[in-house]
Amino acid sequence: MTELSRYIALKEYIPLGKPNISQFELKEKKISLDNDDDVMIQNQWVSVDPYMRARMTERKNYKPPFEIGKPMEGSCIGHVIDSKSKELQKGDIVLSEYGWRDKFVTNYINLKKINPINVPNQTYLGPLGFTGHTAYIGLFRIGKLKKNQTVLVSSAGGSVGSTVCQIAKIMGCKVIASTGNDEKVEWLKNELSVDHAFNYNKVDNLVLHLKSLSPEGYDLYFDNVGGEFLEAAIFRMKNYGRIVICGRISQMNATSPGEGLKNMAHVLVKRLTIKGFLIFDHGDDYEDFENDMKQWITNKQMKWRETVVEGLENAPQAFIDLLDGKNIGKMIVKI
Ligand SMILES: NC(=O)c1ccc[n+]([C@@H]2O[C@H](COP(=O)([O-])OP(=O)(O)OC[C@H]3O[C@@H](n4cnc5c(N)ncnc54)[C@H](OP(=O)(O)O)[C@@H]3O)[C@@H](O)[C@H]2O)c1
Repeated sequence: MTELSRYIALKEYIPLGKPNISQFELKEKKISLDNDDDVMIQNQWVSVDPYMRARMTERKNYKPPFEIGKPMEGSCIGHVIDSKSKELQKGDIVLSEYGWRDKFVTNYINLKKINPINVPNQTYLGPLGFTGHTAYIGLFRIGKLKKNQTVLVSSAGGSVGSTVCQIAKIMGCKVIASTGNDEKVEWLKNELSVDHAFNYNKVDNLVLHLKSLSPEGYDLYFDNVGGEFLEAAIFRMKNYGRIVICGRISQMNATSPGEGLKNMAHVLVKRLTIKGFLIFDHGDDYEDFENDMKQWITNKQMKWRETVVEGLENAPQAFIDLLDGKNIGKMIVKI
């Protein structure tokens, strides 16, 4: 069968500053099962993620730039609507990287079949997917999280951050959470039971504020934002503290390189470990994460929220809203 696929494409590269809606376009093309083992998928949920901002420039990064005029890529969940493969049948639910489009055709090897445990399918884009996995690997493999420590988390009301907060609480840690609006602060305190949550936009002196919330300092800082927050956290780390560099969203739309860290002396004197990581390197580490996360979800120890934007045509706005902090929990697009 031949179908029409609608997809979002970038019209031009966006080297600096915040993207705007006019830099994206909705296009369409015909698709059909042309080769053996081809499968046609109807997407149900498409993820928009901060790392995509880096792919909207021509600069070399850990993933190649999006191609101008071609369908953009990203994580998505869909179901099989036609198949020339014995491996996948109509109705099977699959995870893939063919996001930002409603339908597509690919060889079955590019699709991962999922069997949801009593959770909505889109949970495989959130706590059971890429962002949950990032939180888990960042805390345990990179941050060497230990029980009963003091953990600081930035962008704590987002998908990765809210998962980090809850895993750290499960480990008996004291959790201090930073986020950009009061609704997220209330959610973190009342639903996710962090020890302290605050709105960084309302804080005059971040270093003093971090000191007031944990005078003894922090064992682990899970950094989703970089920039000034990272510098403030370095001032308040304990000796031998660990900083996990997960993201740098405060710098992503920068129009100039900005200043470097001014307090490297603290890194030396406190013997800090600062380590970056990319979840794409940890595909083989998925099983432990999936087992633990399924158990936490089943035991109701893990909660999550989704901010749902309806319609493929609104995916670019969803992405811009994500960068503006308008999401609580995972930002996803419903197709
Ligand atoms: N290393 C990896 O492999 C990997 C994998 C996945 C994600 N990440 C990174 O993890 C971080 C979180 O990702 P996510 O998918 O869970 O996104 P998210 O936290 O759900 O959404 C992004 C959030 O960033 C915050 N933000 C935007 N501009 C900011 C600024 N100038 N200063 C401080 N915060 C700002 C906003 O929340 P507020 O309301 O709090 O401002 C916004 O909601 C991102 O930096 C992302 O790049 C890394």
